[in-house]
Amino acid sequence: MIRVCRCEEAEHQEDPTDLKQKKQSASSRFPFPVFTVVCTKFKKMERITPLLEFCPDEKNIERLSSVDQLKERVRSVQHFATLCHQISHDEKTSQDVFIELMDPKSLKKTPKYTLFIVDRQCKSAQKFAAFVVPQGRETDWLFSSHEGRRQLADSAKFQRLLVIHLGRDHQFDSLDSVQTELAGIVSSLQPQGLPANTQIPFLSLGAQVNQRKEIYRAASESTGDYVIEEVEEENDGKPVILRRLIFLSNPNVIQSEARMKNGKVDLKHLACQHHLVMVEELRQHLDAKNPALSSILVLGLGGGALCTYLHQAYPHFKVDGVEIDPIMVELAEKYFGFKPSENLRPHIADGLAFVRDLAATESGERYGCIMLDVDCKDRSLGISCPPPSFLDSNFIGSVKQCLNPHGFFFMNLVCRDETKRNNVMEMLRKSFEIVQMRKIKGEVNEIIRCHPLALSTPAKARNGRKSLKK
Ligand SMILES: C[S@@+](CC[C@H](N)C(=O)[O-])C[C@H]1O[C@@H](n2cnc3c(N)ncnc32)[C@H](O)[C@@H]1O
Repeated sequence: MIRVCRCEEAEHQEDPTDLKQKKQSASSRFPFPVFTVVCTKFKKMERITPLLEFCPDEKNIERLSSVDQLKERVRSVQHFATLCHQISHDEKTSQDVFIELMDPKSLKKTPKYTLFIVDRQCKSAQKFAAFVVPQGRETDWLFSSHEGRRQLADSAKFQRLLVIHLGRDHQFDSLDSVQTELAGIVSSLQPQGLPANTQIPFLSLGAQVNQRKEIYRAASESTGDYVIEEVEEENDGKPVILRRLIFLSNPNVIQSEARMKNGKVDLKHLACQHHLVMVEELRQHLDAKNPALSSILVLGLGGGALCTYLHQAYPHFKVDGVEIDPIMVELAEKYFGFKPSENLRPHIADGLAFVRDLAATESGERYGCIMLDVDCKDRSLGISCPPPSFLDSNFIGSVKQCLNPHGFFFMNLVCRDETKRNNVMEMLRKSFEIVQMRKIKGEVNEIIRCHPLALSTPAKARNGRKSLKK
């Protein structure tokens, strides 16, 4: 039998003869993990393979099936120790560092925990805490975005805050069990200068960690893996159930969302803030008696939350939804209360081709409003909505051609890059006389509204013109 045990005590022992070591503070030294290897000889027995065990700390023993696994465990502890040392000695950066932790005991290939390390630039008396995000809330702006996590650290007033996301594929019993499992790792990430035995507070939004119920999971050719799940949130002190469509390629972004009422989708409620903003603006045009408004085109149907809401609020309008993935239309009908009818029509097509073909057809439909709500699958671009092909001036030219002379265009923009955002605004201004951006508090989404000057705009929009000339 071979047992490899980590000896943390030995790592923190000082050598009284090492003067150089004495000069260093305890936290600035790098205690490389120390292991002991205990080999026990047994009488050889037929068909019995050697027993291999790994003890990452005093409390846990793991039985492994191969020497390679044993070596891998030792290596991962060494890597983690090196990483922790680097993090605690790095100059504070303006970007969050994050670490993904897998569960070696599980067959799941996704991280069990994601730890975001948020360091505040200003000094604080409270040095370090961990914040566990309840399952289902990691899509909130406060926890999913860099800016949100900074705001959270500022309001918690800790010098360093570890924001912990719980992997959606894993089971968590309670906040206490999360704390027990992560205690060792969290204490390795404490900032320089804190004594080794410091008690680290674990914070959260309540005592629960398990607020997510998976309804359906599958994969489609164009979307990849996706889930439909329900989470419970509080609204004005009352619990509400929200049903969500999530693409696992971008797990912290909600594609479609609906509020549930008595086990059914509440068709009269719009759950996504950016949809609410678009509909609010639309109402202003209706109040201003914009004659153009009798047909709406939504590019990116997804779960159909926006189309369904528009149809129930304005049943006499013609609402067309374009969706590239036919599976999404099925999901919209089955899980989000989307019911096609004469005035609510799904079109399975690439939004780009749909608009280009329509623009080229002289007798084609000319819409009063076009709403662009298409996600971008390439996460390296810094724009998660829409994809770059929809930010092309030729495409925007085609959109303009598909609008009637009083029509207007909304774009849901999710962009973390200031320069790219300015380029998008610049490009849109070349096609439309009025281009306005509306930021949404607590969200990464921004709504850009574009329309021709000819439009008899509501007072608010007309006032906005001045700022556009800046
Ligand atoms: C953010 S979701 C749309 C949410 C939807 N508007 C709602 O109200 O629930 C984005 C959708 O755009 C679709 N999509 C992605 N690329 C597309 C394209 N080129 N043309 C049409 N739809 C596309 C995706 O399949 C996804 O369903």
